Amino acid sequence: MTSAALAPMSGNSLLSDGGPALGDSEFAAIARIMMAEARIHLPPTKKVLVHSRLSRRLRDNGLKSFKDYIDFAQRDAEELRLLVTALTTNHTHFFRESHHFDHLRDVLMPQLQRDPARAPVRMWSAGCSSGEEVYTLAMTLLGTDRAQSEWMRGRDVRLLATDISEPVVRAAAEGFYAESITEGVPEAYRRAWMVREGAGYRMADTARALVSAKVLNLFGDWPMKQRYDAIFCRNVMIYFDDTAKSELEARLVDMLKPGGFLYIGHSERLIGPAAERMRSRGNTIYQRTDGAS
Ligand SMILES: C[S@@+](CC[C@H](N)C(=O)[O-])C[C@H]1O[C@@H](n2cnc3c(N)ncnc32)[C@H](O)[C@@H]1O
Repeated sequence: MTSAALAPMSGNSLLSDGGPALGDSEFAAIARIMMAEARIHLPPTKKVLVHSRLSRRLRDNGLKSFKDYIDFAQRDAEELRLLVTALTTNHTHFFRESHHFDHLRDVLMPQLQRDPARAPVRMWSAGCSSGEEVYTLAMTLLGTDRAQSEWMRGRDVRLLATDISEPVVRAAAEGFYAESITEGVPEAYRRAWMVREGAGYRMADTARALVSAKVLNLFGDWPMKQRYDAIFCRNVMIYFDDTAKSELEARLVDMLKPGGFLYIGHSERLIGPAAERMRSRGNTIYQRTDGAS
C-alpha cells in the first residue's frame, strides 16, 4: 500500500490544511483511544499526522471540531474502527527484508520437505498490511517454477494473514497489485505466480489458495488453535510501547511449534522474557528452543 493516506508516520510537516485545529487535550484523547483499542503508542510528534489523517473523518461526518469527532467516535463502534484504521501505518512491499525469505528457503523449507510425517505446514503473517508479505511467503514456498512446488502437492500448507485494518485485509484477500507495486518481485516468481490483469497483476490461484486473510487485533483474542512453523511479525511492534511489546512477544512464542521461527522487523528486538525461550538464528530471526506450551 503506498497511497498518501497510508504513508509512513512522521510528525515534522507543517500544520495544517485548514479545517479545525487539533488541541493538545484532543490529541491526548485520541492517543488514549489508540492505546486502548490497538495498543499503538502515539507520541506528541505524531500530532500533525493525526491532524491530517483524521481531518477527512471530520469532513465526512460533517463535524466542526475534533472534540465533536472524538465524542462521536466514542459512541459509534464503526467510526471508532475507522479512526483506528486511519491511524495505522500500512507501508509494506514484496520481498521486504529479503534475507528472511532466504532463511525460509535455505533453512526451514528443507526441514519441512524432509519431514517423514508430512505434518501440516502453518505460517502466519501477523500485521500483514495489504498482503505483500504473505504472498512473498507463498511464492518462496512455491519456488520459481511448478517443479519446485512439487513438494507441496497433497501437503496441508496454510498461510494466515491478519491485520487490525479491514481495508488492507480485503486487499490481501483480493491479491491484486498495481504494476508499480510488483516491481520488487523477481521476474521468475512474477512469471510463475502472478497473472496479468488490467493495469496490474493478480496472484495466481495456486498462491491465493494457500492464504487466508482475516481481521485480527494482535491484542484481542486469537481464535487459532494450531501452532506455527513460522511467524512473520515485522515492522509491527515498533508502534507499541515496551509493555505491549513484551506481552505480544510472549504470545507469539507460545504460538510457535517447538523449533519454529519468528521473523521480526529490521529495527526490532525481542525485549521481554520471551527472548529466553528463543535462540537468535541470524539478523532478526529467532527459533523457539523451549518445549510445547
Ligand atoms: C508497517 S505495516 C507492516 C507490514 C508488513 N508486516 C511488513 O513488514 O511489510 C504494520 C501493520 O501492523 C498493523 N497493526 C498495527 N497495530 C496492530 C494491532 N494491534 N493488531 C493487528 N495489526 C496491527 C497495521 O494495521 C499495519 O498494517
